[in-house]
Amino acid sequence: MKLFDVYPLNDICIAKASGAYVWDDKGEKYLDFYGGHAVISIGHTHPHYVKRIEDQLHLVGFYSNSVKIPLQTELAEKLGRLSGKEDYQLFLCNSGAEANENALKLASFYNGRKKIIAFKKAFHGRTSLAVAATDNPHIIAPVNQTDHIIFLPFNDDIALEEAFRQNEISSVIIEGIQGVGGIHVATNTFLQKIRWLCDEYNAVFIADSVQCGYGRTGKFYAHDFAGVHADIYSMAKGMGNGFPIGAISISPKIKPKHFMLGTTFGGNHLACAAALAVLEVIENEELINNAKMVGDYLINELIKLPNIIEVRGKGLMIGIELPNDMNNVKKNLLFKHRIFTGEAKPNVIRLLPALNITKTEADIFLQAIKIELS
Ligand SMILES: Cc1ncc(COP(=O)(O)O)c(C=O)c1O
Repeated sequence: MKLFDVYPLNDICIAKASGAYVWDDKGEKYLDFYGGHAVISIGHTHPHYVKRIEDQLHLVGFYSNSVKIPLQTELAEKLGRLSGKEDYQLFLCNSGAEANENALKLASFYNGRKKIIAFKKAFHGRTSLAVAATDNPHIIAPVNQTDHIIFLPFNDDIALEEAFRQNEISSVIIEGIQGVGGIHVATNTFLQKIRWLCDEYNAVFIADSVQCGYGRTGKFYAHDFAGVHADIYSMAKGMGNGFPIGAISISPKIKPKHFMLGTTFGGNHLACAAALAVLEVIENEELINNAKMVGDYLINELIKLPNIIEVRGKGLMIGIELPNDMNNVKKNLLFKHRIFTGEAKPNVIRLLPALNITKTEADIFLQAIKIELS
């Protein structure tokens, strides 16, 4: 059988990884400023993470939710405390798309409505509703439920108010910082307006924190900068540091019944052990502070560079908008300087390094991009 190319391949085969670095199968070392789509949150093969998963695997790797899994309760308590959402409920699943799918569905169960507000340049995943709420017509199939979605301009209060006045809105789904769309930060006032309108119209505020959550921006959720609570937070990516796990955290306002949410793999023993190890490292090593400190440093240095249009983002979720196509810069960073970065087409370089990246590693990146932009 021939392999389906999910992404155009660049022939690099990662054979080994540790901390902020990966090595290819020829022994070449690369600095990882991308974390495989924003997934690596505590660095590669962190010893505590490896040990916790290994220990768990010797005990029990998997059983479904048909039995009690105390690790899930432990995870819910720790996540609740670290995210400041102790009174929320946690539902565990396997990916970001699945988290968003369940969030959107739960909102509709809650208020019985169908219309969803999403935003231009949003990305919420590839399952049916999540992809319908994603602003990319190429990845939407005829079967996806696009007639339920109202796409609005990002950060536009007036359009938002108007949409609420004219439709029976079930939910609003918004990334605190749009990732795939090019690192666009939601303003505090816009998020506050969403909160206000959702309260006013009994709609559900869904904070897609799949990419911008889990401490990456210097707060647990990027939406926290606005000082508002969402009704549902979706998360995945950094949650498992590479182990597939996703979740939604559900406010007490919404009271799901048993049949509304379910999954076979979600919240299995191994996934919970991985997610707990991640939170333990984030807490013990104060990684949210580190994300803010190194992120601020990177942003302050990047804005001094020549030949850029804009630097956007918060903490370690940074977009560098270039005047031209970013392809050459990204290729040179990879093949000349041996640094992995991300992109948002056509002209934004995306930086999503692990939260424990050091200032020294940030300097290595800065030195390389300085050369490429001058
Ligand atoms: C903001 C956001 N939401 C949802 C998703 C979908 O996550 P997954 O690929 O785990 O399904 C992504 C993936 O890039 C994302 O960036």
